[in-house]
Amino acid sequence: MDKLELSYEDALIPKDQILETAEKLRPEIRNMRNAISRGYDDDRASINLPDDDEMLSTVKSVIEEKLTLEPEYLIVIGIGGSNLGTIAIQEAILGKLYNLLAPPIKVLYADTVDSSLIGNIIRIVEPTLRRDGNILLNVVSKSGITTETIADFRILLDLLRKYKKEYRDYIVATCNRDSKLWSLALNEGFTALEIPLKVGGRYSVFSPVGLFPLGLLGIRIEDLLKGAKEMREACIDMELERNPAAIIASIQFAHYKEGKNISDLFFFSTDLESMGKWCRQLIAESLGKEFSRDGRRVNVGITPTVSVGSTDLHSVAQLYLGGPYDKLISFISIRKPGPHLYVPRMDGYSDLVPGIDGRSLEEIMSAILEGTKEAFRKDKRPFIEVSLPDKSEGSIGQFMQLKMIETMYLGHLLNVNPFDQPDVEKYKRETRRILAGEETA
Ligand code: PA5
Repeated sequence: MDKLELSYEDALIPKDQILETAEKLRPEIRNMRNAISRGYDDDRASINLPDDDEMLSTVKSVIEEKLTLEPEYLIVIGIGGSNLGTIAIQEAILGKLYNLLAPPIKVLYADTVDSSLIGNIIRIVEPTLRRDGNILLNVVSKSGITTETIADFRILLDLLRKYKKEYRDYIVATCNRDSKLWSLALNEGFTALEIPLKVGGRYSVFSPVGLFPLGLLGIRIEDLLKGAKEMREACIDMELERNPAAIIASIQFAHYKEGKNISDLFFFSTDLESMGKWCRQLIAESLGKEFSRDGRRVNVGITPTVSVGSTDLHSVAQLYLGGPYDKLISFISIRKPGPHLYVPRMDGYSDLVPGIDGRSLEEIMSAILEGTKEAFRKDKRPFIEVSLPDKSEGSIGQFMQLKMIETMYLGHLLNVNPFDQPDVEKYKRETRRILAGEETA
């Protein structure tokens, strides 16, 4: 498998300082290595998902069974960690315009309780149901009690029931075995897929959360896991210079200590925009914490932002190159070119933009990326570079595993728990209380 590459010559942190910081990660790397032998009985449980052959074979058999129904639409109902990873991988591999390319199964995402969004989803799929075509609902909620997910699920379930006597066959619930949703799924006769208890939402993309919908759409989920596993091995390497997660976490931490608390993920690939949203949640929810691991009020966090090249050079470049020195940029690019598209030679057009006649779009994009990096260099703005071999399952698996382990290492350096989200739970509890008509405590 071709490997993801990291370069950090322009990180503006001396290499010995990076390695000195990385030294602090040794105990956590050891914990990570030990976690591998502990299966799901550790907070770092998600790193063992790529080894779980039983889970993979269960997911694959459910996919096989549901494909026999010949669904025209898959609706993934979930929010946050329960859908961002799926969207990220689907768009990276199948493209942002996937649904418009006449695929055998189209995919829609119901996340928030926005009546326009859900109303439009109903408008899109109802004609299929009306002519007796099939749709699948995959409700994904680790806790099984997230307000938005359950509200949307009930509305879409109601729609399905109107048209299908055997509606149960068209529902897959992905949740925690201890959740109320799990019991309901079993009572109702829906297929249920398990999210291991210790695998947190934002670390769950390699569990049935991502594997079922992605496999159903034809994505090679074994290769995704293979990529993740290869990267995991690199990220637990005690030879720190060879450990990309330790290196990036150390660079980010060093900049954070100097007041650069914004991490911009600048993807030079339109299809990776949603990958940016997945990273954003991972970093924000894992590292933005009120209390340290030892209970002190610390209010730490790295603010993740997402940019897409070259689109956002026409939006944020002025700020990034002229504004405060408060960011570390990660330029993320793809090495293997996509379809070869060349700017045609045309009489009378050469003067508009000189130098692009006969050039491929990749060449132009790469000139833009090089130009951008040069501008950052000249202005002493720090950046690192991550290049993915291509947008295959293996490469995407490598990238996502890298970001997850890097985030865990940053949690260690910042001395916060990267696996909980107590303040998200606050809003969830308050919402449930308001909807239940209860008084505030
Ligand atoms: O990463 C997380 O834990 C959260 O973002 C959750 O995924 C999100 O809040 C949805 O929760 P649930 O999967 O329980 O519906």
